[in-house]
Amino acid sequence: MNQPLDNPSGQVVPAIRVRHVTKTFGGVTALDDVSFEVLPGEVHCLAGENGCGKSTIIKIITGVYQPDAGAEIEIFGQKLSAITPTISRKLGIDVIWQDLALFPLMSVAENIAFEGMLGNVPRIARHATLRKKAAEVLTRLGVDLDLEAPLHTLSVAERQIVAVGRALVGDARLVFMDEPTASLTQSETEKLLAIVAKLSSEGVAVVFVSHRLAEVLKISSRVTVLRDGRLVGVYDTDGMTQSHLTELMTGHTFDSVVAAQDRSKAPVVLQVKNLTREGEFNNIDLTVRQGEVVGITGLIGAGRTELGHALFGMTKPGSGEIILNGAPVRFRSNRDAINSGVAYVSEDRLTLGLVQPQSIADNIVLPVLDSILDRFGLISSSKKDKTVRSWIDDLAVKIGEPTDPVTTLSGGNQQRIVLAKWLATKPKLLILDAPTVGVDVGARAGIFEIVRKLADQGLAILMISDEIPEAYFNSDRVIHMAGGEFIGEYDPRSTTISEIEGAVFA
Ligand SMILES: Nc1ncnc2c1ncn2[C@@H]1O[C@H](COP(=O)(O)OP(=O)(O)OP(=O)(O)O)[C@@H](O)[C@H]1O
Ligand SMILES: [Mg+2]
Repeated sequence: MNQPLDNPSGQVVPAIRVRHVTKTFGGVTALDDVSFEVLPGEVHCLAGENGCGKSTIIKIITGVYQPDAGAEIEIFGQKLSAITPTISRKLGIDVIWQDLALFPLMSVAENIAFEGMLGNVPRIARHATLRKKAAEVLTRLGVDLDLEAPLHTLSVAERQIVAVGRALVGDARLVFMDEPTASLTQSETEKLLAIVAKLSSEGVAVVFVSHRLAEVLKISSRVTVLRDGRLVGVYDTDGMTQSHLTELMTGHTFDSVVAAQDRSKAPVVLQVKNLTREGEFNNIDLTVRQGEVVGITGLIGAGRTELGHALFGMTKPGSGEIILNGAPVRFRSNRDAINSGVAYVSEDRLTLGLVQPQSIADNIVLPVLDSILDRFGLISSSKKDKTVRSWIDDLAVKIGEPTDPVTTLSGGNQQRIVLAKWLATKPKLLILDAPTVGVDVGARAGIFEIVRKLADQGLAILMISDEIPEAYFNSDRVIHMAGGEFIGEYDPRSTTISEIEGAVFA
């Protein structure tokens, strides 16, 4: 049901109506006099660059943060002077957070159904009820997960599904999804978008944040655009194009051009021969040269991330050879890999990328502590400041102070800190696994500019990405991986995107 509901006086009662919302954190204005509405049953997107305030507005409506004075907030027609997370949930609002906020040691079933179960069920009945509720929700989502599996054994994509499931267990009338598809591949995304459409048809409003603009336009009927904490406007997505939306978000346009060059004469940095790890990848032969960006694309389960893990010493291959700068290597751990000049920026910034409670500065210098010691073996604060500043400037990270906890950064800015952290190790081989997950369109262009600059300086780069355009425009060669094997290779200069898409989605 996409029609707004009428109230007795004949006017539409919005699911949420916020007016004049301002929020400052110390010196940072995250939101500046923002007003917008979401109608019942509507799919409404929030769009804007990293740090423009999307997550902050969600946190205000769900009672995590209190707005500055002067804000007016109505939820399903109720004027609220103060919101707490409990009040917001009681009114039928649920959230799937950007960082998921799941419990790694609990099972799938517990993560989905736990919260609704607290207190009111006898202990013995609890487990069965929990399983039943979780199973119902997963059926509604059309997915099949092992209910007893501990969450930490799941992929990022599967954890995302668990988070969606948990939101649906309550009888939500409005669900916020903060970048729910960021770590999902094409087919999983399709599935989630179908779920969103279904919720909407059942009268549930969905407020959706995504940096994938194609998806924004496909799924939502209206989009609210924010820039630097200010409302740019609210637009119908009917007739809206990606480039127009980009322009609204950033104030300018971006053109994609193929960056591929011939690097076949450059010295070989990484050579992989016949590398196999049972059940993950088979007979991988791969060469990455100085200054070369090799893209690996394919669907989930293709074994791309597993290959990345093996090349970074996180797992041991069963057979085959890894040769770095001409010398065979056998990594016992990722420490060995780092010492040999390999860096790895992962798709999962929350578990592999950042140490959450620590400061921005500490996160950046973590892998390079040795290089910032003074002659007494203590951390030199001037060396540390210099390293931190130079990377923050280079990557244009939007921060308050380097000493702020890394958790105060917006998602996309956290991703830039992960990149800074690894680049500080001055690697010879950089493995990027979904490097722009959650990064906005402008910053993506910025990150690829940096990738290109690093390649030009001689860095060898292996880039894993399921966004084919991303691999296509930014790699010198694109490899198609499926079922644990390399099954195709393309030169972007002589191939169209649709040819590669045709092969991958065949
Ligand atoms: N707890 C906090 N303390 C200090 N600053 C904060 C805090 N939370 C958010 N900010 C700042 O507020 C601004 C908006 O952040 P927010 O997380 O809302 O951005 P976003 O639009 O969700 O970005 P992204 O797309 O990267 O997730 C940023 O400059 C961020 O650094
Ligand atoms: Mg955010």
